[in-house]
Amino acid sequence: MPAWTSRNITDNLRLEMAHVNSWLLGRVVKPLLFLLCLLPAFLLVYGAATDQLGANPAEALIRSTGDWTLRMLCVALAVTPLRVLLRLSALARLRRMLGLYVYFYVVLHLLCYAWLDMGLDPSDIASDIAKRPFILVGFTAFVLLTPLAATSWNRAIRALGAARWQLLHRLVYAVAVLAVLHFFWMRAGKNNFAEVQVYAGILGTLLGWRLWRAVSAQRSRAAVGQPRIDQAPR
Ligand code: HEM
Repeated sequence: MPAWTSRNITDNLRLEMAHVNSWLLGRVVKPLLFLLCLLPAFLLVYGAATDQLGANPAEALIRSTGDWTLRMLCVALAVTPLRVLLRLSALARLRRMLGLYVYFYVVLHLLCYAWLDMGLDPSDIASDIAKRPFILVGFTAFVLLTPLAATSWNRAIRALGAARWQLLHRLVYAVAVLAVLHFFWMRAGKNNFAEVQVYAGILGTLLGWRLWRAVSAQRSRAAVGQPRIDQAPR
């Protein structure tokens, strides 16, 4: 029996990850993920059609679509850390779809609010957005997500150029902060922060990891650029 040295374990893990990676490259994964992400919306429509959304279906629809927007945002932002930490390069090809699902759920959330809460009256919607800060914060997050969804196509990426596209897509970090603030503000009235803390923790970790990685990369670039102590001019 082979001894379980740390090298042995690392090699086995690498092999497992290579298997997962090649499974992720398979043809079924994308359509499967597409259907899985669509399932909450389908269940909500089904629940509404069969009167199974409780005593206040309008509120249930607005809140559930808000919850799913936030969950999709967490999943979309988890792709890069998982890809890097687990060496699952195949995850990269799922990122765009997950990002577009964030937009899909926020549009549903906005439509539910505009239709079921505001009766699709543009002046009522505008004054409510101006009057209630937590709605204004949510709406700002929606506005910031719009150019990201609009430029997620290959042609837009080519037209913008990779550097500018990447810079634009950093707006998603502001969206994450606004999303937590929106949720926090909404729950502040009820003094109920348990779920807000969970999402703030997840999104804080995902953004913190990126910050840590950017700082480490900058430090190692600076270290390479700097002369070694024994070569430094005196
Ligand atoms: C990225 C953008 C957004 C995210 C992540 C988000 C997320 C959420 C979440 C998690 C909730 C609470 C659900 C719960 O209590 O379980 C919520 C509630 C709500 N959101 Fe959003 N939202 C966003 C944008 C918007 C926009 C654009 C509007 C409207 C202009 C909006 C209006 C509302 C309303 C009216 C509620 C329900 C408040 C209540 O029931 O008292 N949200 N949202």
